[in-house]
Amino acid sequence: MEPPVKLLNRVQLPRHIAIIMDGNGRWAKNRFLPRTAGHHAGVSSVRKAIEYCGSIGVEALTLFAFSSENWRRPQQEVSVLMGLFLATLERETEKLHQKNVRIRIIGDRTAFASELQDKITSAESLTLANTGLNVTIAANYGGRWEITEAVRRVAKLVAEGKIGPDAITTEVFASNLNLSDIPEPDLFIRTGGEKRISNFLLWQLAYTELYFTDTLWPDFDEAELEVAIRDYSGRQRRFGYTGEQVENLFVNPGLL
Ligand code: FPP
Repeated sequence: MEPPVKLLNRVQLPRHIAIIMDGNGRWAKNRFLPRTAGHHAGVSSVRKAIEYCGSIGVEALTLFAFSSENWRRPQQEVSVLMGLFLATLERETEKLHQKNVRIRIIGDRTAFASELQDKITSAESLTLANTGLNVTIAANYGGRWEITEAVRRVAKLVAEGKIGPDAITTEVFASNLNLSDIPEPDLFIRTGGEKRISNFLLWQLAYTELYFTDTLWPDFDEAELEVAIRDYSGRQRRFGYTGEQVENLFVNPGLL
């Protein structure tokens, strides 16, 4: 079999892929296993996605691991998930660092146990200067929470007299959001059959191409990711322009 880089030779690569990893519970239920077995199996799909994106030259991969609403799940499931985050960080950080991966966690981490918060901080500082794939894990994250936090930051700047209200442009606002240093997602993928954004990266997904698959997250492998990238590659992104304008941009890129 040829390596993935070769397979995707003529494909327009997304620079940033964002994924809602859904379907772990159903994957386990289909096998008469406890839901948590699905989360364990999900970790190996996380590893595959990171390795594959790194190998084909995607710049950023953002994974939704735990929403602000997931605390409502049975206590035992929540604690297995927390244990998995901790164990995965402990086991994988050094290996990812060797591969030049930058790790970041977005979300309200103050709700996590201090051991987990410490692991997150040290994984982020260890990999801060890495220039390879940007891996971001959204944990205890919600898009509305993130936007509210950014509003608070901007309001402070105004209250302190650092900027006037008229200086609040789209760009200034966006610079106060998470991940403002990397391109917004080009491709959003949700596994597990639901067709929702579920409060994920609400601002950043404004122009993102959306891709939904029935495949359950633990079954989502390199081949499935390649299908999603090929699907993305066949789409025309218009950003408000007409299709004709976009085609002309190839002839005269100065139009943009
Ligand atoms: C959604 O499936 C999945 C989650 C809420 C957790 C995602 C966690 C992992 C993939 C493992 C750990 C990740 C990292 C980054 C170490 P679901 O439980 O809602 O599935 P269902 O819809 O079938 O019930």
